[in-house]
Amino acid sequence: MNSQLLIDTARTLVCGDKGLLAMDESNPTCNKRFAALNIPQTVEARRLYRELIVTSPNLGQSISGAILCDETIRQKTNDGISFVDVLRREGIIPGIKVDTGAKRMAGFPGEKITEGLDGLRPRVEEYVRMGARFAKWRAVIAIARGMPTDGCIEANAQALARYAAICQEAGLVPIVEPEVLMSGSHDLQRCFDVTAQVLHTVFNQLHGQRVMPEGMILKPNMVLAGTACAVQPDVTQAADATIRCLLRAVPAAIPGVAFLSGGQAGELASGRLNAMNVRFKSKLPWAVTFSFARAIQQPALEIWSGHDFDVKAAQDALIHRARCNRAARRGEYTAEMESPARSAPAMAIPVA
Ligand code: 13P
Repeated sequence: MNSQLLIDTARTLVCGDKGLLAMDESNPTCNKRFAALNIPQTVEARRLYRELIVTSPNLGQSISGAILCDETIRQKTNDGISFVDVLRREGIIPGIKVDTGAKRMAGFPGEKITEGLDGLRPRVEEYVRMGARFAKWRAVIAIARGMPTDGCIEANAQALARYAAICQEAGLVPIVEPEVLMSGSHDLQRCFDVTAQVLHTVFNQLHGQRVMPEGMILKPNMVLAGTACAVQPDVTQAADATIRCLLRAVPAAIPGVAFLSGGQAGELASGRLNAMNVRFKSKLPWAVTFSFARAIQQPALEIWSGHDFDVKAAQDALIHRARCNRAARRGEYTAEMESPARSAPAMAIPVA
């Protein structure tokens, strides 16, 4: 294992004020978002949309790494340049989602286990040859009556740890993503307790599987009340709860924490990330950054809606959200950065 390569890549992904762009929606998830906007659900439409994203001018000023999916990492622009090369020319590190999705978990009604370990080593080795330098695996944990169960948390945590070990062996930095979902009527404290339990279990398993913390990145949810909870925390309360939870469970040795957005509106995700950096940045052992999909992409997707003539406006919207999140990393994001035309909320469509 090339430890120094892993450490260097992980540090580069979270250095300065940049963050990650998740553009690795599975085909079914991407199609669901396209269907909602009457965009054809075809390989070519997905390729055009991903080309729009990777060719957005100056994307690399705010984005350090982009997470692709298996279809996208193999695709090229209209000019025949591979997306991997487009990203590299812009100084963006290409990454790849390697799980094969969250499936119904046998014996645990309502809960899911993320699959993809079978055959992972050769797949990862192929992605390395294609230019990927980091990877992602997402586990989903739902909160409801009697959920999550210890069985679900433990099985997902072990799969995350085994994935991470295989990635590090191959020289890919694993992004470890245990997502506690926002849907439900639970309050902030319940999300705090579940997130803490999940993170403790995940880091226990990572340690057990000999994953090097310096060569990985954690991609957690923010600690928030469920979307159906009547009492919603303000930005400061959400930031404080999130950081307090992570400080209890996340080793100081990891270089960075890159949050998922989970369906939050783009402005809210930026505001909460900003509050964490304003209030805690100088006191934290790890960088606190973003790895958003919807909270960066959604306005751009809505503007584009499959129309050639809207590519430029969609790219502007994408760059705008990326810049807002870059400012949030510095603790310099303000409401004034938002113009009314750009404030379309991210839709709460679950990621498959
Ligand atoms: P969202 O930011 O839309 O939650 O997506 C992040 C992600 O990569 C999910 O796996």
